[in-house]
Amino acid sequence: MATIKCIGVLTSGGDAPGMNAAIRSVTRTAIYHGIRVKGIYRGYKGLITGEIEDFETQHVSNIVQRGGTILKTARCPEFCTPEGRALAYETMRTHGIDALVVIGGDGSLSGAREFAEEFDIPIVGLPGTIDNDLYGTDLTIGYDTALNTIVSAVDKIRDTASSHDRLFFVEVMGREAGFLALNGAIASGAEAAIIPEFAFEKDQLAETIENGFRKTKNSSIVLVSESESTGGAMKVAERVEKEYPQFDVRVVILGHIQRGGSPSAQDRIIASRMGVAAIEALLEGQRNVMIGIVNDALVYVPFSKAIKKNKPIDTDLVEALRILSI
Ligand code: ADP
Ligand code: F6P
Repeated sequence: MATIKCIGVLTSGGDAPGMNAAIRSVTRTAIYHGIRVKGIYRGYKGLITGEIEDFETQHVSNIVQRGGTILKTARCPEFCTPEGRALAYETMRTHGIDALVVIGGDGSLSGAREFAEEFDIPIVGLPGTIDNDLYGTDLTIGYDTALNTIVSAVDKIRDTASSHDRLFFVEVMGREAGFLALNGAIASGAEAAIIPEFAFEKDQLAETIENGFRKTKNSSIVLVSESESTGGAMKVAERVEKEYPQFDVRVVILGHIQRGGSPSAQDRIIASRMGVAAIEALLEGQRNVMIGIVNDALVYVPFSKAIKKNKPIDTDLVEALRILSI
């Protein structure tokens, strides 16, 4: 196994609060171990075009508290092609980068897996996405902050919903995963969540209404995951207007507000711990793994497992929401 002298770090896909804390941790831990660091801008795009800068400890000063990513991020269709990845490999060679730390979601880690296998490059991934949809980790970087953003938004919506006796459908992000909607609903006292995991199993809207929805309250809030399978909040509200016209319905789409803002303490801590673990993993000879966190312990999850898109929703949470919304 060749010694790693220089690592490249990049953020890719949707940004997530805490990515900066992860970049800081990766950079400082590498330098601590005598490894040089190159910051790669705009994800895989910068790896192809060579938008790369030598990073010293001061490059990552004063960023642990900042949302977004100082390295910028991008979606890069070219990296999905063998030609694009070959260009990226050439850039790595030109800049003397021996290994990569990729901070991103499901797509970014799928790309990392292909790239690592094709060119035999050591790559370690960090789960950076508000969606919390990577398998093998209890948490992803950015999820907790996004959840808190949702909760503070729903608290405000509750005031107007109850003043007007209205039914609100609040659409949250998650990209075919219901973690934000389900836990957001529990934390904000919403009456129900309509999530992709059950979209084909049951009629969640009808069930919510038939279960005595609004029995004891004059206003209600339902969180809806943005997704093709749920149809999103607009579609659900259109259905209510047709099938249950007694409700005065409104829709709020929280959108990209969920991706911004200063990271929560939890996101800063997991990002910092995962960054340290990423460099230690590379030094141990680990490759093609994502750093995960399970029961507060750091674990290595092979890329092939992490990206399987089958992270299960905890049914206790579904039951808790059902009980608490009576
Ligand atoms: P996220 O990482 O947040 O899930 P995307 O799904 O948009 O975001 O993926 C980010 C980038 O990762 C894509 O623009 C592309 O460059 C790369 N990528 C995604 N899937 C693959 C794949 N199967 N092969 C190679 N690269 C991929
Ligand atoms: O993966 C993170 C995420 O915010 C998803 O929840 C959402 O579906 C998607 O990215 C939106 O991406 P874009 O940046 O293209 O609007």
